[in-house]
Amino acid sequence: MKQKYRITLLPGDGIGPEIMAVAVAVINSIGTQFDLEFDFKEALVGGSAIDETGEPLPAETLKICRESDAVLLAAIGGYKWDNLPRQQRPETGLLGLRAGLELFANLRPAKIIPQLLEASPLKREIVEGVDLMVVRELTGGIYFGQPKGVFSDEQGSKRGFNTMVYSDLEVDRIAKVAFEIATKRNGKLCSIDKANVLDVSQFWRDRVNLIATNYPNVELSHLYVDNAAMQLVQSPRQFDTIVAGNLFGDILSDLAAVLTGSIGMLPSASLGISNLGLFEPVHGSAPDIAGMDKANPLAQVLSVAMMFRYGLNQPEIATKIESAVNDVLDYGYRTGDIMSQGMNLVGCQEMGELLIKTLES
Ligand code: IPM
Ligand code: MG
Repeated sequence: MKQKYRITLLPGDGIGPEIMAVAVAVINSIGTQFDLEFDFKEALVGGSAIDETGEPLPAETLKICRESDAVLLAAIGGYKWDNLPRQQRPETGLLGLRAGLELFANLRPAKIIPQLLEASPLKREIVEGVDLMVVRELTGGIYFGQPKGVFSDEQGSKRGFNTMVYSDLEVDRIAKVAFEIATKRNGKLCSIDKANVLDVSQFWRDRVNLIATNYPNVELSHLYVDNAAMQLVQSPRQFDTIVAGNLFGDILSDLAAVLTGSIGMLPSASLGISNLGLFEPVHGSAPDIAGMDKANPLAQVLSVAMMFRYGLNQPEIATKIESAVNDVLDYGYRTGDIMSQGMNLVGCQEMGELLIKTLES
């Protein structure tokens, strides 16, 4: 009998549906070649869900996700929904998805692609060879901490606040994931905090040090987040695996991403307590180019590769997809965001067709 995988597709908003179409074509081509069956279910999240149901994460979507083997998300959000109350914002749907599926570990690799070196905003000698992995805690910290809100006191003055809080369980489990990943990479882990100011960060650092005793072969260092931002720009090659809380990880993963030249090339994986993972590009929904066939589908396709590697335990398929992406770049094909002189400019759909041709050759 054919092996069958149930995959939930969440195309979302903006360029989401266009890049998702390319991802599905790639998965179907893999299915034929490897004799696998894929059962796709599409569900609503983000702005498109708000338009149809009034909420960014309908209960039905969470249910469909929970009944699948992997979730593939494209991108959510857009100007249209930016001024809605927080509970109805597309981003709230994304956070609900992460929390609802207990996806506490977010893996964001940032690797320089040699063909795109010129696209990096930094000098070649600084970024050449950069290959790092940001492990971001995704369901805790200031994103989810209570209490939070905006309150008025009796005198009528107002204050807004959020709480940055981490429990021992939350730090320990993300630290373990990061140590495991560092073990499989180059054995170096840098933990990010603001322990010189924040109690929650000192606690984070102490717990990471405790977990470190189980990983004597990993070289652990700690950096304050401000210093880490500077070091990432100044000498990014010193980093191998980075572990950070939700907010610091959000900020540093964008920084790390842009080192590689285009955020349009970077995938991510969100993993949790069960085997169910969610895979999505790091970039957003790019509403300014939505529907124009200009989007770069490669981060989405590389997210499919991560799905096969981390979600479905099919590393050889992941490698096959990654080398197809590499080959298409070698042949000189570029979408607008990574275009440079002498290369062939293609649209989203054509990039997808070229990928399929490469995969099947
Ligand atoms: C990300 C995004 C999200 C985050 C937003 C859209 C809520 O910036 O995935 O990095 O802050 O986590
Ligand atoms: Mg972000």
